[in-house]
Amino acid sequence: MIPLEKKHLDRIRELVHSYSGIILERVATRNVDKKIHHQMKHFGVEKPADYILILEKFEHNSKVMDELIAELTVSESYFFRNPVQFEYILEVLLPEFYQRSNWQIPLRVWSAGCSRGEEAYSLAMTLQHFQNKHPAARFTINAGDINAKNLAAAREAVYGKRSLREKLAVFEEKFGFEIGKRDEKGECAVSDEIKSLVDLQKLNLKNIRGLNCLAGSDIIFCRNVLIYFDEQLRKQLAEKFYQCLNPGGVVFLGESECYSGVSVPFELVNYKKVYAYKKPMESHK
Ligand SMILES: C[S@@+](CC[C@H](N)C(=O)[O-])C[C@H]1O[C@@H](n2cnc3c(N)ncnc32)[C@H](O)[C@@H]1O
Repeated sequence: MIPLEKKHLDRIRELVHSYSGIILERVATRNVDKKIHHQMKHFGVEKPADYILILEKFEHNSKVMDELIAELTVSESYFFRNPVQFEYILEVLLPEFYQRSNWQIPLRVWSAGCSRGEEAYSLAMTLQHFQNKHPAARFTINAGDINAKNLAAAREAVYGKRSLREKLAVFEEKFGFEIGKRDEKGECAVSDEIKSLVDLQKLNLKNIRGLNCLAGSDIIFCRNVLIYFDEQLRKQLAEKFYQCLNPGGVVFLGESECYSGVSVPFELVNYKKVYAYKKPMESHK
């Protein structure tokens, strides 16, 4: 394998950033050359310059770019990651929301950057549990990711040990039901009932206008995704999420992420030292 010339690698970096907002160095440090060559071979392209010409057309056809991003990014996720956030939703956010709306309006939830679906199905279990106790509580859950392979895995919804970990079992015990059946290898297939609660679709967070599908949300999960992006996109997303949330709606970020220097007036929620960002009730924007 001939190493990629710097000018080609730089151009590919630029294109990945311009399409997805992803800063390549933050997600893929190993075997980048090898992975790009693998993609070139997969699409029957010999010269890096020709491959770049195809990538440059991402606005018309993003298939080649999507596959490159899927190859380059590692998408770590697991059920009930940062469990206190789910506790807060269950103990505080849901009772407040349904009381405020007099049980008349469905709660709208988004998992943006949902990876292979672990986050969205954790939310589905949480809401299902609440609904088992309060049958009048209605809700919708949407989930999206830029990576088509992740979305396919989320649709299949069969998970191994890395995704399951011990937190899932803790919540299963608390909720009194299992997410699905385990087989003898320890893999777990999410039940059709839980799968049916989540609507999966392709989502590109770099395409700010395309995020209008989040409008009217009460909960937005965008966890462990902002770390891939530059400051400008993070700020744009904070503003867009603020716009898309209903008053009283909340954004949840990853443990090591925060909104600093954003221009929108989120209220900081501090629940057991876990932070979330709330759109004030009196806001109209
Ligand atoms: C580390 S995973 C986080 C998954 C999950 N939110 C969690 O916290 O466990 C990051 C996910 O963000 C997705 N992602 C990266 N850039 C994206 C973009 N521009 N639009 C949508 N999703 C993106 C990746 O494909 C990956 O699945």
